[in-house]
Amino acid sequence: MINVSILGYGTIGSGVFQVLKENCQIIAERTGEEIKVKSILDLRDFPGDEAEGIIVHDFKEIDNDDSIQIVVETMGGLHPAYEFVKASLEKGRSVCTSNKALVAAFGPELVKIAEEKKCNFLFEASVGGGIPIIRPLKSSIAPDIVEQISGILNGTTNYILTEMTENGTDFETVLKDAQAKGYAEKDPTADIEGHDACRKIAILASLAYGHQVDFEDIYTEGITKITNRDINYAGKLGAKIKLVASGKIQDGKICAMVAPGLVTATNPLYSVDGVFNAILVRGNMAGDIMFYGQGAGKLATASAVVSDIMEAAKHPGINIKTIWDNRKMELVSFEESVSKFFVRVSGTKAENETKVSEAFGSVTPVDAGYSDEYAFVTEEVTEGAYIKAEEKLGNIINKIRFN
Ligand code: HSE
Repeated sequence: MINVSILGYGTIGSGVFQVLKENCQIIAERTGEEIKVKSILDLRDFPGDEAEGIIVHDFKEIDNDDSIQIVVETMGGLHPAYEFVKASLEKGRSVCTSNKALVAAFGPELVKIAEEKKCNFLFEASVGGGIPIIRPLKSSIAPDIVEQISGILNGTTNYILTEMTENGTDFETVLKDAQAKGYAEKDPTADIEGHDACRKIAILASLAYGHQVDFEDIYTEGITKITNRDINYAGKLGAKIKLVASGKIQDGKICAMVAPGLVTATNPLYSVDGVFNAILVRGNMAGDIMFYGQGAGKLATASAVVSDIMEAAKHPGINIKTIWDNRKMELVSFEESVSKFFVRVSGTKAENETKVSEAFGSVTPVDAGYSDEYAFVTEEVTEGAYIKAEEKLGNIINKIRFN
């Protein structure tokens, strides 16, 4: 019997409790041990809930309980989650968390403590909800150099962009509708400005390359400037606009970015619509591998947490190696990163054609039937060169990078 404590009985914590209970037999068979939730930490009481009798309000009760072998952290936020997780690992207890903010900020330190204490710090649910990606990155894709890892890592923005594409609805209307349906948070900033996807790609890039990629260092652009005209142009280009988070090798360094991108039909991410997430990994030996599924949701995310609990339960006293040290990964500077841009400028084609060629060199015009603007696709240029050309023109409406 393995005793588990859950820190936080919110959506994911109660989902973990439910998965462990509903699938207890199969989980016990596949783990070789019964897994029992012994206590749950939460500030609230849950009268009438099945877990009512095992709710505790003080972390010390869990910390001092020598029978606890695995701690599940589903509280969210940095503090006191960090302190509780660290204290648990220092006691040699494995910790399984769904908390991407915690993993992105303290990953290397917590991985190191787990290694020293011969236990495990596992975080499958912190990226991509129910999609298995952390363990495959650590094991199945381990023989490969990851040339590129890119993904649709945020369901809220993918839902909004899909609705705009399929129904021609504008951004504000879809956002309000998504909030009313509970798909988008009341305060949607972290999703629509790309901060959520940024933390997730920071974790994936850190694991793919073995060193710390700080989320603060990743250029991040949200989807708030995307209009229906952009979507119509994308259609003309045989593409869809997606919020793409990516990390790739460029000139021996890592180029990481979160930004709306034009994804053409040849890219497997093209068909990832609605609230679904996907991660495309390009290994130098395995080639392209795509992971697709529900990036959020109570039971999908809880299932990923429980997979970590089972992994920890199968390895008592053994640290499963995670390569993620605190040496900062050298990133390509934003100005040096290279993209091909789709650009819209105000004014007619006749007014712009010569100026655009002078600023960008050779471009390919795109016509979506708007006579008051001129749109074109550049060759591959650096961000630095793009900014200079944009300043020279002075009448840019919007630009979107190709992926
Ligand atoms: N808010 C996130 C999303 C889910 O929309 O994908 C949690 O990471």
